[in-house]
Amino acid sequence: MAFKLIIVGGGRMGSALAEGLLSAKWCATSELAIVESALEQRGALETRFPGVAVLASMELADVDASTGVVLCVKPDYAESAARVVGASGVTRLLSVVAGLSTARLEAVFPSPVAVIRSMPNTPVLVRKGATAIAGGSNVTSDDLDWAESILSAVGIVVRVTERNLDAVTGLSGPMPAYLYMVVEALIEAGVHQGLSREVSRQLVVASFEGSAALLSETGESPEELRSQVTSPGGTTAAGLRVLESRAVRAAFLDAVAAAAERSRQLGR
Ligand SMILES: NC(=O)c1ccc[n+]([C@@H]2O[C@H](COP(=O)([O-])OP(=O)(O)OC[C@H]3O[C@@H](n4cnc5c(N)ncnc54)[C@H](OP(=O)(O)O)[C@@H]3O)[C@@H](O)[C@H]2O)c1
Repeated sequence: MAFKLIIVGGGRMGSALAEGLLSAKWCATSELAIVESALEQRGALETRFPGVAVLASMELADVDASTGVVLCVKPDYAESAARVVGASGVTRLLSVVAGLSTARLEAVFPSPVAVIRSMPNTPVLVRKGATAIAGGSNVTSDDLDWAESILSAVGIVVRVTERNLDAVTGLSGPMPAYLYMVVEALIEAGVHQGLSREVSRQLVVASFEGSAALLSETGESPEELRSQVTSPGGTTAAGLRVLESRAVRAAFLDAVAAAAERSRQLGR
C-alpha cells in the first residue's frame, strides 16, 4: 500500500515531525511510514508510534503519484538516501538536511522532482520551532503549501529564497545556542550576587519564558517592552548601560554574520 508521507530517517528530527503530524491529524497513522536504517531505533519508533509503518528500506509499493517524502538524515548520508528515494519514483521531497542545496538534491533524481529545502531549529522537538523553507527549480506554490503544512505541525514556518537560507542558518538555526549562553551567563551572575544556583536558575528560566511570552502575546516590539522596564536613572538602566558599553549588540551582529558565512562556506 502506498503511503501519504514517508519520513526517511527516524532520529530526533524525523520523530519530532512524526509526533507533530500525528497530533495535528495531518495524516492517519496508517498513512505514515518512517524509514530508519538503525535496528534499535526502529524498535523505539514502533513503540512510540503504534500503527505507523516503520521500515528498514523504501520499496516501490510504498509509493504512488501522491506520496511525499521528508528527508531527515544527517548531511553525510543525505545524497545517498535521496538517490534511493529517487529510484522509488517519488516526485515531491522536503529536506531538513542542513547545508544541502536543492540543486544537489535535484541532481540525484532520475527525473524532475519538486525539492523543498528547509532550515528548522531544535525547538521543533517541542513543537515550538522556527523553520524557513525555500523551493528548488521545479517547485510550485502547491508544493510550498504542502511543505509548510508539514512543518507547521512543529512550529512557525516562513518562506525565503534559497539564497537567504544562509542568513537563516546564521540566525534562527543557532539561536537556541546563543540564548542558552545568555541564560548560562545570567544564572552565573545570580550566583555571583549571592543567590543559590537553584534559585538563580529558577528566576532566570522563568524570566526567559515570561519575556518570550510577553513578546509573542502582547505583539509589542522588543524596544517598547524594554523601555517599559527601564525607568530613567533606575536599576535596569544601570545594567543596560554596561551591556551597551561592552558592545553586546554588535557582538550579536557579528555572531550571526559569522554563522551565516560559515553556512555559505559549508554549502560550497
Ligand atoms: N536536530 C535538529 O535540531 C536539526 C536542526 C536543523 C536541521 N537538522 C537536520 O536534520 C537532519 C536529521 O538530524 P537529526 O538530529 O534528526 O539526526 P539523527 O537523530 O542522527 O537521525 C537520523 C536518523 O536517520 C538514520 N539514517 C541514516 N541514514 C539513513 C537512510 N539512508 N535511510 C534511513 N534512515 C537513515 C540514522 O541512523 P544511524 O544512526 O544508523 O545513522 C538516524 O537514526 C540532519 O540533516 C540535520 O542537518 C536537524
